[in-house]
Amino acid sequence: MRILVTGGAGYIGSHTALALLNSGHDVTVLDNFSNSVPEAICRVSELAGRRLQVIEADLGDPQTIKRALARTRPAAVIHFAGLKSVGESHSQPLRYFSNNLSGTLNLLNAMQETDLGRLIFSSSATVYGVPDEVPVKEDHSLSTTNPYGRTKLVGEQLLADLAASDVRWSFAVLRYFNPVGSHPSGRIGEDPRGTPSNLVPYVGRVAVGREPLVNIFGGDYPTPDGTGVRDYIHVEDLAAGHLAALEWVLQHSGIGVWNLGTGQGHSVLEVIRMYEQVSGQRIPRRIVARRQGDVSSSYADPAKAERELGWTARQGLREMIEDHWRWQSRNPMGYGG
Ligand code: NAD
Ligand code: WQD
Repeated sequence: MRILVTGGAGYIGSHTALALLNSGHDVTVLDNFSNSVPEAICRVSELAGRRLQVIEADLGDPQTIKRALARTRPAAVIHFAGLKSVGESHSQPLRYFSNNLSGTLNLLNAMQETDLGRLIFSSSATVYGVPDEVPVKEDHSLSTTNPYGRTKLVGEQLLADLAASDVRWSFAVLRYFNPVGSHPSGRIGEDPRGTPSNLVPYVGRVAVGREPLVNIFGGDYPTPDGTGVRDYIHVEDLAAGHLAALEWVLQHSGIGVWNLGTGQGHSVLEVIRMYEQVSGQRIPRRIVARRQGDVSSSYADPAKAERELGWTARQGLREMIEDHWRWQSRNPMGYGG
């Protein structure tokens, strides 16, 4: 089967494209390379031992999207393309709404016009806002504290409206918790532009000497060691979650929503200590003020995905950090060298 992967040159998309190729699917990546590089695709192809089709295009261009769908006729679309920085979304909300929401609408319009109905949507645990309780289940109330999160929440809502309007649609909404790690080869991985805002990429840069120390945002949270707790999930497990969701959209109509997390929370200090153990590097750190908008503790109840998709995360924090360190130490400057 051919699967179209929007944003397939990006962090999660490249790992999922490789998992699709390794499962025998044909893959078309559609990406504008606004936050990725073609080298990622070359490495996916090298790891899979076969080629994938690449269409350099922007989801803001409806005609090109429609032509790409009409030409490739994918069995399903996995839609990763989007901007993802919470901080940037506060300063450039319109860019986020245009890119993420208009991009999704253009894609859905093109799918309707070409009579294609199956799509997997990258959502985020950010749609739970400040969780009332952890672990978070899918039926937790939804709210967001930032424009980025709003694009995910509205994206989910418009998929629900479409699914209710016509049985030909089939949508899997996947709410990722905190994706980290990389393919065990160390050949592909997360390569943020500029200074990373996420914890693990930042710690990795400290470990290779590109940043002097980690600022720990808050040491007074109501958690066992006072630092924020998150559900870090290996990107390889996440990729496997997309293959499970693909089976679902091929066999069902309507919309399903699933958390993709491990169900385990880890604190910032635990992550830093694990990185020290795995890398053998000392990671200087200091506690600074809380980061605005951060929640104390967020981790998933992943039981619904296990029950309905037969998917469960297999790898723990050590494996995630080992694989991140392999990628980071072999590619200290990312794909650029
Ligand atoms: P990423 O930035 O590495 O990948 C996104 C890809 O989409 C990039 O290759 C980028 O060039 C491309 N892209 C962006 N806008 C585009 C457009 N208009 N047209 C064509 N291509 C476009 O991000 P990622 O970490 O791989 O995230 C993938 C998806 O998962 C995003 O939708 C993100 O919001 C969501 N998500 C990510 C996380 C996370 O922490 N990484 C967590 C939850 C949800
Ligand atoms: C993790 C923990 C920080 C950096 C974000 C988005 C979310 C989703 C995933 C897309 C927190 C602490 C971090 C640092 C630190 N993305 N931290 N020093 O905030 O849980 O989630 O990425 O959908 O929407 O909000 O992830 O990696 O930024 O932070 O102390 O330099 O590490 O306070 O407790 P977060 P993160």
